[in-house]
Amino acid sequence: MNKVSVSDINFRSRRVLVRVDFNVPLDEDQNITDDRRIRAALPTLKKILDDGGMVIACSHLGRPKGKHVPELSLRPVAKRLSELLGQEVIFAEDCIGPEAANVAGKMKEGDCLLLENLRFHPEEKKNDPEFARKLASLADIYVNDAFGTAHRAHASTVGVTRYFQQAVAGYLMEKEIKYLGDALNNPQRPFAAILGGAKISGKIDVITNLLDKVDMLLIGGGMVFTFTRAMGYEVGDSLVEEEKVDLAAEIIEKAKQSHAELVFPKDVVIASEISDSAKTDVVPVDKIPAGMKGLDIGPATIRLFQEKLADARTIVWNGPMGVFEHCPFETGTLAIAKLLATLTEQQGAVTIVGGGDSAAAVAKAGLEEKLTHISTGGGASLEFLAGKELPGIAALTNRTKVEAV
Ligand code: 3PG
Repeated sequence: MNKVSVSDINFRSRRVLVRVDFNVPLDEDQNITDDRRIRAALPTLKKILDDGGMVIACSHLGRPKGKHVPELSLRPVAKRLSELLGQEVIFAEDCIGPEAANVAGKMKEGDCLLLENLRFHPEEKKNDPEFARKLASLADIYVNDAFGTAHRAHASTVGVTRYFQQAVAGYLMEKEIKYLGDALNNPQRPFAAILGGAKISGKIDVITNLLDKVDMLLIGGGMVFTFTRAMGYEVGDSLVEEEKVDLAAEIIEKAKQSHAELVFPKDVVIASEISDSAKTDVVPVDKIPAGMKGLDIGPATIRLFQEKLADARTIVWNGPMGVFEHCPFETGTLAIAKLLATLTEQQGAVTIVGGGDSAAAVAKAGLEEKLTHISTGGGASLEFLAGKELPGIAALTNRTKVEAV
């Protein structure tokens, strides 16, 4: 990575504005249902605190549309962070203005402060320079550890950086760039990608970029049926993006010209409804009866994917193979999670999961520790895999330009 990293810096006595991605899921009582993103930021926060620096952490939570929405307060996150850090986390009711300045001004070495939701101010998403200046005025140096938000050019990810001499990558940011970047630019081969999820739209750039890089691209999930419709197969009532059928046909043609092998399911699990009690059947992928939907990959496809991936040295996975939130349709997704764990353990394959639903599926399978890297970014990892420059990364200080301090 060519960016200045937290490991280059001694933070002693410095006030450090740390952009984290604490956009975590909450239930209706504001309990955090998945704290992975908070845990993932701990190494960076601990490094700064152990150096004797002062952490001023800031994040968004949800999409409050520039208004103060009490249900989207970061206060429960401050509580969870206190438990994980084993020290009190001070909470400021606003991220800018007198309250934030007052609390930040009173901090001592080793203190950790979390500011209230950045998106309670509409200026955050507008990348407003004045808002960025006010946020920056709280600190001496800036660290960005929010890989999950690196695809957003907002005030706290991009705008603030012009008010600091250095914009430094946190450990999580560094790790994400390393694993995703190495997979794309310097993979051990054979290099395979598995793409799933409901729709092709949103993944077109990823498919196109990966076709130029991988040796094999395995397709699962609801997006299969837009491709099989393009092939002229019977899809029954399966999800099809009609306006993307021509594009699916183009992708199939492009794959023929490329060095990558495009692999589709052989069979699918079908049902007439999506529910935990749905009656299922397994049919060949080209013979889905009328009134039935394809909702998971079938057993023959799981075996096919196992054979195809047997020798893979690098595997990137994004998107579930079926509607895995419902037990009749979880088998394919969980089988892929298990397969990747086995290939990592037994063959040392590098296995990378691009966040979002596939990361949740790995957690559901209890295999989080068994894969090489599970990204904390959903949209961000997709844009990275599509080969796009992420503005939050581009704004960080290049290593060549500065001396470590
Ligand atoms: C995410 O969860 O993908 C990030 O936190 C970004 O959130 P956003 O899509 O609301 O910008």
